[in-house]
Amino acid sequence: MLEKEYTKQNLRRLVIQFYTKVLDDELISPVFIGKLGADLAGATWGPHLDTITEFWASFTTGGSTYNGSPFAPHTQLGKLSREMFERWLKLFHETLDETYEPHLTKVLKDRSELIAGNFMRNLRL
Ligand code: HEM
Repeated sequence: MLEKEYTKQNLRRLVIQFYTKVLDDELISPVFIGKLGADLAGATWGPHLDTITEFWASFTTGGSTYNGSPFAPHTQLGKLSREMFERWLKLFHETLDETYEPHLTKVLKDRSELIAGNFMRNLRL
């Protein structure tokens, strides 16, 4: 059943579903596995899942505790490509469509495209 509102609980589910796809993707999984390991339930992924849930909450539910610098870590991941960002977006948008009613997905689709565009520009991709 598709969600009718954003909550931290369903954002957490979105994030887990998204990274499940990411870890299955042959193009971008190596970057995530290299940094955080291959086990989503493992100790290194836990804090990342919390951070990203709060990150998306900051654009949707309010009451977010995220106050990091989203771009900085992406300069330490080896050579990323435009194709990798496009894959990231494809998987994220697919997961949004599987999780929320269509009118709700737009806010995070638009936001993720904007941020990905900024990241690519900052990385000169
Ligand atoms: C090819 C594309 C991408 C790859 C391979 C990637 C990979 C990663 C990895 C491995 C981390 C963890 C870094 C660490 O803990 O040191 C991370 C953190 C993060 N990523 Fe990405 N990412 C990508 C695109 C994006 C995009 C498009 C967004 C947002 C729309 C995003 C948002 C974030 C945020 C918010 C963090 C946490 C930053 C913090 O610790 O405050 N990423 N990413």
